[in-house]
Amino acid sequence: MKRSIAILSGDGIGPEVMDQTIRIIKKIEEKFGHQFHLQYGDVGGVAYDKFEKHLPEMTHQICEYSDAILFGSVGGPLTESHLKKWQDCEKNSILVLRKKFQFSTNMRPIKVFRELNAISPLKESIVGANGIDFIILRELLGDVYTGEHKTYIENNLRTATDLSLYNEKQIKILAHHSFKVAQKRKSKVTSVDKANALDTSKLWRTIMNEVSNQYPDVFLEHMLVDNCAYQFMINPSQFDVIVTANLFGDILSDAAAGLTGSLGLIPSASFNEQGFALYEPSGGSAPNIAGKNIANPIAQILSFVLLLKHSFELYEEAILIEKAIHQTLKNGFRTQDICFSDNNYVSSSKFTDIILSFI
Ligand code: IPM
Ligand code: MG
Repeated sequence: MKRSIAILSGDGIGPEVMDQTIRIIKKIEEKFGHQFHLQYGDVGGVAYDKFEKHLPEMTHQICEYSDAILFGSVGGPLTESHLKKWQDCEKNSILVLRKKFQFSTNMRPIKVFRELNAISPLKESIVGANGIDFIILRELLGDVYTGEHKTYIENNLRTATDLSLYNEKQIKILAHHSFKVAQKRKSKVTSVDKANALDTSKLWRTIMNEVSNQYPDVFLEHMLVDNCAYQFMINPSQFDVIVTANLFGDILSDAAAGLTGSLGLIPSASFNEQGFALYEPSGGSAPNIAGKNIANPIAQILSFVLLLKHSFELYEEAILIEKAIHQTLKNGFRTQDICFSDNNYVSSSKFTDIILSFI
């Protein structure tokens, strides 16, 4: 197979975990006789240094001419947040890409690796019994993120407002997506909202119910967002597919990632209606550990695995990488973030060496 991938490594640990992932990409190419044409684009602070723009036109074009985007992470250290380079860096790169390519659905698989049950902050009795394995589908183009933002003076008081807005078309996209994903899993959708307080949530619930009639084989339940946060802690095994609005999804997906013990384990995918997609780790640029070759490459590598499955439909290749990661963990290799003892971990590149040895 011949395909092109836009590689946007970005800032912080982005470039180093991307480098490790590229080693995996090369290995898969070689082993299966594929040709993946990698097109490199600058994004984030790195792009700002060169072009005074967080998302230069050139990068946008590279993405446009690619079959999929593999994204690293963007953003800088808190101590440098006053620098122009970092101001609105995430907003100007990630949010702009989402809008440009109309990525309406974000998918984050939340899975606790069997080998890593012990690093989950939850008790073995909660994680161990049925495991944690669910998917969060988050709407990505609406809600308070994209409604009108205003800061003004009213009655002599500094005042601000962010409008949350949804129309039925936006919700329908997520609804269909969630039922289709659930059909390939345990056929259960939990739609999360705040329908006891918000009109957008009432509309969300109505549309979910309407669309569910087309999927009689999938069980749909509704859950209030505060209760969902609570259920994550006491009974996370109950979930299969969670579908929710933009802001709830942002918060819940980080909370859910916490269940696995490290953000360094969770990949994500963002799709538009045509199926074009961007893949990225759920975590950020982690500037505090950047440049030390200690970052966990799993989230970035699993983002490539999602790319193989969803953009290229190369399942054998994807499953082989997943198995190699399991094998690496089974053999006791750990990066620092998932390691109990202070000095028993291996570097990012060594960890990837081991994964490569199992491919
Ligand atoms: C995410 C991030 C972004 C979001 C930020 C960086 C704007 O937290 O992808 O979850 O809130 O969507
Ligand atoms: Mg977030």
